[in-house]
Amino acid sequence: MKIFVTYPINEVGIKYLQDHGVEVVVNRKKRPLKPKELEKILPKYDGAITMLFDKIDQHFISKLGPNFKIIANYAVGFDNIDLEATKQKNIIVTNTPGILTEAVAEHTWALILASARRVLESNQDIKNGLYKFWQPSGWLGPQVWGKTLGIVGLGRIGSFVAEIGYYGFKTKIIYYDLMRDDRFELELKARHLSLNELLERSDIISIHTPLNEKTHHLIGKEEFKLMKKNAILVNTARGGIIENRSLAEALKSGKIFSAGLDVWENEPKVPVIFKGLKNIILTPHIGSATLEAREKMSEIVAKNILSVLKIGKALNQVN
Ligand code: GLV
Ligand code: GLV
Repeated sequence: MKIFVTYPINEVGIKYLQDHGVEVVVNRKKRPLKPKELEKILPKYDGAITMLFDKIDQHFISKLGPNFKIIANYAVGFDNIDLEATKQKNIIVTNTPGILTEAVAEHTWALILASARRVLESNQDIKNGLYKFWQPSGWLGPQVWGKTLGIVGLGRIGSFVAEIGYYGFKTKIIYYDLMRDDRFELELKARHLSLNELLERSDIISIHTPLNEKTHHLIGKEEFKLMKKNAILVNTARGGIIENRSLAEALKSGKIFSAGLDVWENEPKVPVIFKGLKNIILTPHIGSATLEAREKMSEIVAKNILSVLKIGKALNQVN
């Protein structure tokens, strides 16, 4: 049994697989492999651990051999993989849910607070020599405590971000999701609203939906028109959910106060219009980048692989 890992990950899972007699080969090129390179490599393997930057599309899947059984994506999101195409070839796809919820929720709050209180902008100003004296009206931002937090997409991460807001900052919770969650509504006194109502009422909007045809450009020009003037928009989910240009225009014109993005459309490429904006914070897709979460992610991908190789069943199948 032979597994390919498309980029080096935390060693725990690799060791686990080796200890169970699986041969593991890791890409040591220090860069992502191109689809053409992967196409040549993968037919020799029984499965792969893939990264969110690997585009596993229909064409790619058609090249995989008959022994290829599992794609274990090293992420909770799996929009990089064409699930329909994998089903047709009986390839199991797995993700890493649950163990990175706290990490992503923490980072979401880091972005909310930093966006509201201009942490990075003021830090940059100091380094540029602009802090000459204490300023009674300098670097002002909206208070977060007691404000209305709008959660778009109430999965594990969205719920946990809401809990931190409710218990830590006494935020009022509103949410938009296709499904209602009675327990959540009761516990956090949360209200379920339409997306438009949520956008109109939120002081802080936090995105937590997966990326798919329904959520692609969910937030665009018309949606920004509905937002409050001092609204803060944070995205730790997937870039394609918010349309870059409309966001940049809303930030530039002061339509909203600021944005904190861990993900954006076409990352890692940074749109030129983002570079000139002071009220946008960008982080390099590090939501799950805690030592703890990445170790657990490594464990989970390995356990899924072993389970599929041994008994043909996964722990976290998504297709
Ligand atoms: C990271 O974005 C993930 O989906 O785990
Ligand atoms: C992801 O795990 C989510 O459910 O939010």
